[in-house]
Amino acid sequence: MAFWLLFAVFSSVLLLPEPAFGKTRHYTLDIKMHNVTRLCHTKSLVSVNGEFPGPKLIAREGDQLLIKVVNHVPNNISLHWHGIRQLRSGWADGPAYITQCPIQTGQSYVYNYTVVGQRGTLWYHAHISWLRATVYGPLIILPKHGVPYPFHKPHKEVPMVFGEWFNADTEAIIRQATLTGGGPSVSDAYTINGLPGPLYNCSAKDTFRLRVKPGKTYLLRLINAALNDELFFSIANHTVTVVEADAIYVKPFETDTILIAPGQTTNLLLKTKQSYPKASFLMTARPYVTGQGTFDNSTVAGILEYEQPKHTKTSIKKNLQLFTPVLPALNDTNFATKFSNKLRSLNSKKFPANVPLKVDRKFFFTVGLGTNPCNHKNNQTCQGPTNTTMFAASISNISFTMPTKALLQSHYSGQSNGVYSPNFPWSPIVPFNYTGTPPNNTMVSTGTNLMVLPYNTSVELVMQDTSILGAESHPLHLHGFNFFVVGQGFGNFDAKEDPKNFNLVDPIERNTVGVPSGGWAAIRFLADNPGVWFMHCHLEVHTSWGLRMAWLVLDGDKPDQKLLPPPADLPKC
Ligand code: C2O
Repeated sequence: MAFWLLFAVFSSVLLLPEPAFGKTRHYTLDIKMHNVTRLCHTKSLVSVNGEFPGPKLIAREGDQLLIKVVNHVPNNISLHWHGIRQLRSGWADGPAYITQCPIQTGQSYVYNYTVVGQRGTLWYHAHISWLRATVYGPLIILPKHGVPYPFHKPHKEVPMVFGEWFNADTEAIIRQATLTGGGPSVSDAYTINGLPGPLYNCSAKDTFRLRVKPGKTYLLRLINAALNDELFFSIANHTVTVVEADAIYVKPFETDTILIAPGQTTNLLLKTKQSYPKASFLMTARPYVTGQGTFDNSTVAGILEYEQPKHTKTSIKKNLQLFTPVLPALNDTNFATKFSNKLRSLNSKKFPANVPLKVDRKFFFTVGLGTNPCNHKNNQTCQGPTNTTMFAASISNISFTMPTKALLQSHYSGQSNGVYSPNFPWSPIVPFNYTGTPPNNTMVSTGTNLMVLPYNTSVELVMQDTSILGAESHPLHLHGFNFFVVGQGFGNFDAKEDPKNFNLVDPIERNTVGVPSGGWAAIRFLADNPGVWFMHCHLEVHTSWGLRMAWLVLDGDKPDQKLLPPPADLPKC
């Protein structure tokens, strides 16, 4: 141990190649209450190490991470490392009641995992209730020592994390919505690295500034940590090059505007102007919205500022022009489609797209909204789509009920009876015209149903949006895997015709895909990671309403195909 530590120190000094395996990195994340003021509202929020957003965590491909999370707040907490594959280490994945019981007040848990075969921009966030509203931060995985990026080496790398600011307490918001059955209140602002920027009242001092030198290349690591909104993003008078999505290198392409859904990450190369432009440039983001509910239609702005040459005249310094980008319309599905069609895996020799070509099992799930009956006693009415109903959401019309014991432990200890049913349907029990006139009965069923897969099953899954309570784009996130998006389209998926157009050569590989509004997305993945893996809409309101399910991937026969034993400090329910 000590020898390797010494070796690592010397090798970096002497520029010797590092050992083939990575090093161990220790982090401590203290979950604390902390006062933050935005838009002239001060509130006490749950944060990491007293920072908002949370600190940037850095690792290299191949490193082992030991992250001690200590809970100093009244709430239960768990953290998820969004996009980390967690090969055989599902105990460290983090979704509360799925892979672990939450960490209770005064307790701690060490998330222990190794980053295998991944590099790029990922992130971490709380994975219980709505705490991720304030508990989130970048998780940057650098390539192994000496391995270059497959693009121009950037002069500097800058994480840009989008979030949502609520003046009110987000836990109170979701509690209230769950009681009334209505839609939760929307945010008061969007943020970049926690800052709403100059387009909001009482906010100009809270502006993210990106200071650059002319003639250089910057790598912007974009993360959408917003709770409920997909976002368009653009920088005035600058074109960017998309080089990575969800920590997978893509075929580079240039664009003025990008679209990023909650849960997704996108790396951009920004080439600054050759000489000092005597101007500054707004970088703005606002939502892409397809649903029928209310939403926060405001715009967050940061400022791209060029370093001024020393001899700049004061008159120029004072009267800098400020350019504003033009973003697509809030409902510009045409842009969304074009943008997602441009995303292709790099598929080079070094970074091949290993698309499963043979498929063992084909599944067809619907994703969408629905209703539950109002559960209020004494004739009180609800605030759902009608006053006798509450909003719900489902996958294949099953609104997932959170268990009170963690699924992974229940499975591992053979005590799943009464916790979950291993019988998630391959396709909806009651088929209907999914994107046509919605059925009269919009009631969902409820349950904790898992889809069980033998080790190494090659899966094709079509996710079909429904028009119940309005078609809407749903960013679906799968834990434990990356998947290939082999096809997308509008209307009802045609099992005969549509597969003919699947891209099996260079489809985008990612962990979160936007299922098109009133359409479908087809993904493929190889179930080579034993464990229980959550899959859900990354719009937090939809997750809360039940748009979630879990896969149970069984152990393989070989010793290295089995889930590792649970750590001794795994929290208890
Ligand atoms: Cu980024 Cu299950 O979450």
